Amino acid sequence: MSKKVIDYSARENPTGVNPLFIERWSPRAFEKTSIDTPTMTRIIEAARWSPSSFNVQPWRFYTSTDATFDDFLSLAIEANQEWAKDCAVIGFLVGEKNLEYNGKPNGYSHFDSGAAWMAMTLQARMEGFYTHAMGGIRANEAAEYLKLDSKQSEVLMGFTIGKLADLSELDDEQRKNETPNSRKMLSEIWHQV
Ligand SMILES: Cc1cc2nc3c(=O)[nH]c(=O)nc-3n(C[C@H](O)[C@H](O)[C@H](O)COP(=O)(O)O)c2cc1C
Repeated sequence: MSKKVIDYSARENPTGVNPLFIERWSPRAFEKTSIDTPTMTRIIEAARWSPSSFNVQPWRFYTSTDATFDDFLSLAIEANQEWAKDCAVIGFLVGEKNLEYNGKPNGYSHFDSGAAWMAMTLQARMEGFYTHAMGGIRANEAAEYLKLDSKQSEVLMGFTIGKLADLSELDDEQRKNETPNSRKMLSEIWHQV
């Protein structure tokens, strides 16, 4: 897949941020492929090294195999199934709700799990793959499928990992949806006070 057909024009980078951040985006046009085990292991291993409050590491990653892919796919809402069907791996990010050492709620579980997700995503990008987060999932059914204890674990979101399709094969309308989007101005999100 040539990068040349990806239109990054909405992603100006005047300050010289590492391209890894700019070139991470969430495509829906995936090309059917698989991810070998060493690569998949590195992708999750990257998440493993994320920081967390009290180093409790509340994230858990559940990912599909060839045998379970269709089950995982069916746990996404239909609109997501339409494009997720072509990815290589579907996963669910699960957060542990309570602290292991005292059983009290961990208020940072979502925050820390999000950080782990981003680490995973950037490693995937470095491996030549793209991810796409999916809030649109049947979280309760996914929890049941994964046999989670609802007192301790919750499905936070789903995600896909895959190879970007050849965008030159898409029609104009499809290609418009496969164009990296923009962001708020830096001045809106950063206040030096
Ligand atoms: C928690 C979360 C949930 C999301 N849920 C969906 C979803 O259900 N379906 C979808 O197509 N995209 C979903 N997205 C993708 C966002 O729309 C996308 O990340 C955002 O527009 C920024 O674009 P980019 O990731 O291409 O930079 C989700 C992203 C996040 C972080």
